[in-house]
Amino acid sequence: MKRVVSRSGRFSGGPAADVASFSESISFDWRLWEHDIRGSIAHATMLQKIGVLSGGELHAIQDGLEHIGDEIEAGKFKWKADLEDVHMNIEAELTRRVPAGAKLHTARSRNDQVALDMRLWLRDEIAALQGEVRELQQALVELGAAHAEVIIPGYTHLQRAQPVYFAHHLLAYVEMLERDFTRLADCRDRVNVCPLGSGAIAGSTLPLDRELVAKLLGFVDAKGKPRLTQNSMDAVSDRDFLVEFCAAAALIAVHLSRLSEDVILWASAEFNFIKIADAYTTGSSLMPQKRNPDVAELTRGKSARVIGNLVSLLTLLKGLPMTYNRDLQEDKERLFDTADTVRACVRLMAAMMANTEVNADICAAAASDPQLLATDLADYLVQKDMPFRQAHHVVGAVVAHCEKTSKALNELTVAEYRKFSDRFGDDILEVFDLKKALQRRQLTGAPGTKEVAKQLAKWTQSLGA
Ligand code: ARG
Repeated sequence: MKRVVSRSGRFSGGPAADVASFSESISFDWRLWEHDIRGSIAHATMLQKIGVLSGGELHAIQDGLEHIGDEIEAGKFKWKADLEDVHMNIEAELTRRVPAGAKLHTARSRNDQVALDMRLWLRDEIAALQGEVRELQQALVELGAAHAEVIIPGYTHLQRAQPVYFAHHLLAYVEMLERDFTRLADCRDRVNVCPLGSGAIAGSTLPLDRELVAKLLGFVDAKGKPRLTQNSMDAVSDRDFLVEFCAAAALIAVHLSRLSEDVILWASAEFNFIKIADAYTTGSSLMPQKRNPDVAELTRGKSARVIGNLVSLLTLLKGLPMTYNRDLQEDKERLFDTADTVRACVRLMAAMMANTEVNADICAAAASDPQLLATDLADYLVQKDMPFRQAHHVVGAVVAHCEKTSKALNELTVAEYRKFSDRFGDDILEVFDLKKALQRRQLTGAPGTKEVAKQLAKWTQSLGA
């Protein structure tokens, strides 16, 4: 009875022992079981409709598959490596229990079956990941809103640049994650197409009802119209949808890696802008004082393998002749690893951000550095009709003078300022009022007081944060 599904007729014996262990995929593709069963039930329902199965046979198959599903869920199902993959394990066991099981694979190949399972699995996975992305956005918005008054230096080249609200910095990541969310939705659109009915490569001579299968499995457009792959050869060998997902996921990983880097810097004694809760840090086995931001570091580190998975997939595909080649079995571990890793990173990052305190005093001290407002000083001169290039030069000279005399920009007198330009008026020192400086920033997208409040309110509302 062994290998009744895979090696009927033509083969005199099974593959050599190490070929079986080399080529099995059950050790990792078992996790497609739920989607494999869903796909088989839809296929059987269609086979009954076109007269290949009787009503009784369909019932027996459906019942048998559901039982197998229950056993798998309960951890009682025995996976057999010599049955290679999830598809053959389930079908062989079904056929052992239900004679009509031998009709289930009518006009179906594992080539269109595995393409179907992956699409079904990924569709669910995308929805789950989108949910986690939303939660991370919420955590960031909540942290920003809880510290809406906090101002920090914004950095370019990791050098202090201009003041920004802490919330503005966090909302930058909310924007990135929003693009990630829509990228996933976009990817889902191309995942959501039904390949079943493509057979091994060239469809079938039997009058399958592909539309029915697509509808049963929810492969429909916004109007409920079934969405079918349009070329059987493409359908069995297309893995673009996996590449797209792994690319979208890699970009999420890169965004999280950047956020991790900010968090790691902010949590250092040198910055000390935030304190991550104990539960999300670890100590050192040697240095008793340490509180290491391991969650952030691992998130940064794990982005490497997610990027690697994307490159692996592209490399896997690039030299394949049409159509299905067994190489494609190598897609699964890369896909699963990306999905699992990115979801864990997003989830942990959300939890960590929700358990982070902001050291408002330290942030205020850092943000009070008057050099952060050197550009405002130049803008002041521009308002007094000085060309910007000249204003930049004048303020540069003031900064150089302050450096030489070890004075802060706001420690010079009006008279001293006027030595650099007679456009400096009595009101010049007001430039250094940080609150007013942020109120002056009124552009859409700028870290102005009103604009950041508006953005926080918008996100709080749309995310239900
Ligand atoms: N385990 C296989 C995979 O993941 C399923 C498809 C096998 N098809 C075949 N013709 N051997 O790709």
